[in-house]
Amino acid sequence: MANAHTPTGHEKIETSNFLMIVLILLSVAVGGMVEIIPLFFQRSTTQPVEGLKPYTSLQLAGRDIYIREGCYNCHSQMIRPFRAEALRYGSLSVAGEFVYDHPFQWGSKRTGPDLQRVGGKYSDEWHRTHLNNPRDLVPESNMPAYPWLLTSTIEPESMAPRLKALRIVGVPYTDDDIAKAGDEVKGKTEMEALISYLQVLGTTRK
Ligand code: HEC
Repeated sequence: MANAHTPTGHEKIETSNFLMIVLILLSVAVGGMVEIIPLFFQRSTTQPVEGLKPYTSLQLAGRDIYIREGCYNCHSQMIRPFRAEALRYGSLSVAGEFVYDHPFQWGSKRTGPDLQRVGGKYSDEWHRTHLNNPRDLVPESNMPAYPWLLTSTIEPESMAPRLKALRIVGVPYTDDDIAKAGDEVKGKTEMEALISYLQVLGTTRK
């Protein structure tokens, strides 16, 4: 005859939407915390790699142009832990290289090559010609041209507030750095700033 059926614990959960949702959220939250929280306390993810320096005022202006022009839409700055990547681009990226990057420019789209280790790969002149019109050097390139960078200049007064903002989030700029932030970029073009940024990329661990 019919067995009297008492629902097991498992069945109670699986037949109750509410319990199911709450328990799923709970396990995802606990799992997430276990994975994420330790990263805030690990030296390897929170401490700069040896020799890492905050961007100079000119490099920082260049980085802001990189962000403004959306270079990250086509270029990543992260060499992933695969043999092919190391062979093509150089030593793998580690978290400590990005400690002064706010926000970091890892990116996820690679229409063009990764730029994490592009510093020192080409001459300044190469970059100037390439950014002015990539087709002059790489005929099949679909990278946009950025000719206005050659003529637009950087406002020196705009630099001190940028350094100050970064200091608030932990970049160790000194009062002296901030006081002199405008001097380094005076009269410089956006092209010069962007190139100085590209030339320092990844050089700490080349
Ligand atoms: C629409 C996609 C696209 C955008 C946006 C773009 N690039 Fe590129 N970039 C490419 C492609 C494709 C290549 C490879 C062909 C070439 O060298 O031109 C490339 C190559 C490069 C290289 C040479 C890398 C190497 O190792 O040879 C540099 C440096 C570079 N880009 C910098 C920039 C900068 C800086 C910006 C923003 C001002 C930018 N790119 C924006 C697509 C793009």
